[in-house]
Parts: sequence; structure tokens; C-alpha cells
Amino acid sequence: MSIRILFATVFIFSISTIAAEKKMPNVFEDGDASKGASMVAACAACHGSDGNSISSAWPSLAGQNQKYLLDQLNYFKNGERENVLMGSVVPLLRAYSDQDLLNIAAYYSSQTKTNGQAEDDEELLALGEALYRSGNMKKAIPACTACHSVNGAGNALAGFPSVAGQQKAYLVSTLKAYRTMERNAGDYALVMQAISNNLSDDEIDALANYMHGLYE
Ligand code: HEC
Ligand code: HEC
Repeated sequence: MSIRILFATVFIFSISTIAAEKKMPNVFEDGDASKGASMVAACAACHGSDGNSISSAWPSLAGQNQKYLLDQLNYFKNGERENVLMGSVVPLLRAYSDQDLLNIAAYYSSQTKTNGQAEDDEELLALGEALYRSGNMKKAIPACTACHSVNGAGNALAGFPSVAGQQKAYLVSTLKAYRTMERNAGDYALVMQAISNNLSDDEIDALANYMHGLYE
């Protein structure tokens, strides 16, 4: 394990331990999903009216952890995370208050995610499962289960995203964006940059296929 990945992992585990011990009552409150529902008309064209996106290239938001969604909305709002398509709604996000963004996150989090279907290719599935569940010590790739859990649900309190059933092409592109460090909003991104740095294109494809087929 490189120093960088070790540091990032220790950092993130200490956060999740603190979160678990304190049960995070005041770090995170629930938004109002029904209020959020009235603020997402502009999002449906890409993310679907219920948060299940309509293209493999665009992330689904349905059932995603609320804290993770809120973090990402803030990154887009303040320009730390950039994307051409999301750029069209950044002015809208800027007009929304913190409470509005929390309500939007609560809305998507409360929606039911559509299960994905992994490509039925034995070799691809075997590689994806082995890497996801056990990592690869020789290549300093940690098991994804450590933070995203065995079924892909992530860790809602700590704000680790769910990856279960996520759109496949998006999983590929975002892992590659971490690898080139183009995706670099917030401290958590450092963890995924370090991990994806050790993943080949084939490994990313296999992992994306496997995660797409996971369900909570
Ligand atoms: C024109 C298409 C489009 C529209 C409209 C759009 N998005 Fe997105 N959204 C995307 C794409 C593409 C990404 C992935 C960006 C990337 O790869 O970094 C994304 C990413 C996100 C993410 C991060 C998901 C993750 O898993 O990290 C959130 C949250 C999000 N959008 C919320 C919204 C909200 C809320 C709205 C409406 C106010 C909206 N989006 C409107 C295309 C769109
Ligand atoms: C030490 C904890 C940790 C480990 C281990 C880990 N992740 Fe992550 N992962 C995170 C965190 C935290 C984020 C959110 C990063 C951010 O805010 O950009 C994340 C984000 C992601 C995302 C982006 C999700 C989205 O909706 O955009 C993907 C995909 C992902 N991880 C896949 C993996 C895979 C595949 C592995 C195993 C090879 C793995 N992760 C191992 C903590 C971890």
C-alpha cells in the first residue's frame, strides 16, 4: 500500500468511526423530500423524474445517500466539480439555499432505485467480483467493500456513496476522472484518486459491470 492510499484510508476510517460513535445527530439532519420534489423539474431530462437516469452515461440519483448527494450538489454549486451537462443547472443551484439543496438530496434519496443488470460475461464478472470484494494487494487496490459495503450500499452516515445499480458508463467515466484527477472536489475525492490510479481500463470496466449488477 502506498503512503498516500494508507493516509487517505486512515483519514476516512477515522471520520467514519467518529460518525458511528457520535451517531452524528447534529452533523446531519434529514431534508424535506416533498419540498425537494417541487424543485427538480429541471433535472428530470437527464436524471429521470424519479432519479433513475435515462442514459448509461448519466448517474442515477434514486436511493443515493443523502449526505453524499448534498456534498456533490454543493461542489457543483461552488464550481469545485465541473461537468458540461451539469453546467446548465449551476445557475439554478446557485439560486437555491442550503435548505433547498438538502431537500433535493432528501427527495432523490427517498426514491426507489431501479436494479441494473450486469453483462453476463463470466471472465468479466469474476474479475469485477474479485476486485470489488478483495481488492488486489500486489497492486495496492483495497477491497471496495471496506467503504461501499458488500451489496454496494455505501455508508449513508459517513457520506460514502452507494454504487449499487449505478449506470455503467457513468461508473467507468467517473473512475477514469478520478484517475486523471479531473474529479477532485473535496477531501473524499483524494481517496478515490489514489485507488483508481492503480486500476487499469480493463479492471475499471469489470468493476463497473459488477457494481451495476449489485442491488441493495
Ligand atoms: C443535461 C443533463 C443534466 C441535467 C439537466 C442535470 N444533470 Fe446532474 N448530472 C449530469 C451528469 C452528466 C452528471 C455526471 C457528471 C460527472 O460525470 O461529473 C451529473 C451529476 C449529478 C450529481 C452527482 C451524482 C454522483 O453520483 O456523483 C448530482 C447530485 C446531480 N447531477 C444532481 C442534479 C440536479 C439536482 C439537477 C437539477 C437541478 C441536475 N443534476 C440536472 C447531467 C445532468
Ligand atoms: C476508504 C474508503 C473507500 C474505498 C476502499 C473505496 N471507495 Fe469508492 N468512494 C469512497 C468515497 C468517500 C467516495 C466519494 C468521493 C467523492 O466525494 O468524490 C467514493 C466514490 C466512489 C465512486 C463514485 C460514485 C459516484 O456516484 O460518483 C465510485 C464509482 C467508487 N467510489 C468506486 C470504488 C471502487 C470500484 C472501489 C474499489 C476498487 C472503491 N470505490 C473503494 C470511499 C472508498
